[in-house]
Amino acid sequence: MEEQLRQLREEALEELGGLDEIQALEGFRIKFLGKKGVVAGLYGRMGALTPEERPAFGQAVNALRDELESSLAARKEEVGEKVEGRLPAGYDPSLPGFSPWFGRRHILASVMEEIVDIFRGMGFSVADGPEVELDYFNFQALNFPDDHPSRDTQDTFYINEDVLLRTHTSPVQVRYMEKNPPPIRIVVPGRVYRNEAIDASHAAEFHQVEGLYVDEGVTMGDLTVSLRNFAREFFGTGTELRFRPHFFPFTEPSAEADMTCFGCGGSGCRICGNTGWIEIMGAGMVHPNVFKSAGYDSDKVTGFAFGMGVERIAMLRHGIKDIRLFLENDLRFLSQF
Ligand code: PHE
Repeated sequence: MEEQLRQLREEALEELGGLDEIQALEGFRIKFLGKKGVVAGLYGRMGALTPEERPAFGQAVNALRDELESSLAARKEEVGEKVEGRLPAGYDPSLPGFSPWFGRRHILASVMEEIVDIFRGMGFSVADGPEVELDYFNFQALNFPDDHPSRDTQDTFYINEDVLLRTHTSPVQVRYMEKNPPPIRIVVPGRVYRNEAIDASHAAEFHQVEGLYVDEGVTMGDLTVSLRNFAREFFGTGTELRFRPHFFPFTEPSAEADMTCFGCGGSGCRICGNTGWIEIMGAGMVHPNVFKSAGYDSDKVTGFAFGMGVERIAMLRHGIKDIRLFLENDLRFLSQF
């Protein structure tokens, strides 16, 4: 018996001396000192001894247990010191760590996606087109003749006489219709450019979401109900729309859509300049000349189109006062959304 215990002690201490990972030490503790470990097993053998043998055996096992415990504790300290020795000088592992930075979607990307998602729910699919665009698609095919004054409201940056940075997402209307027969239902999110004097509400680079629905028998009623559904889903169920006559060369009739102010519900407040209404987009019924450019038969089909500014909608919803903030990449601004 005594011999067995001595051998066990030697083996255990030797094993312990060879361990230098904290996890391995825990394994050692479980193996020898755990509830079902070797030492517990020794106590279990007491029953097989004579009453005379028991006290001496018990004491010997107690001594072994105490020794293994204190040797394990000492080894733990040594191993711990070794681990610390590998850390850079001055590193204090007891200080709280830095929480990692998480990236997030840019506010314009997420607002744009939300708008697109709502129209997807109404059966629209997504299309896109180039930002460097032909004068033809940006203006001529959309019924802006060369010297038409409405070109002045959309001055832009010209690459040469025929190529420019697109001033709106509307050129994708014609590009898409040229390649796809009716019926079509698309939304076109994207970046556009204008030669603007930059201030808190004007940028030379901004974003729009265009919409186009063409089929036989599409009416202004389809336009108003679709846009009202959108406004209610995006801004809240109580939102109403009104349409004011307007002019765009590529739609006839044309309108600007205003919604009831989400700040006051229509009674007048600072957000809506006390009018109760907020302008949110341009819209109208597709002009027959646009169908002609695209190769559609304007005697057969009709359609509606609309276009909204993403920055404007994001500014309204979040109370953002300066359009320049979107592209300044200041994390104090961006991380709020
Ligand atoms: N493209 C117009 C603009 O940028 C908006 C618009 C789109 C109006 C579609 C009517 C129909 O101002």
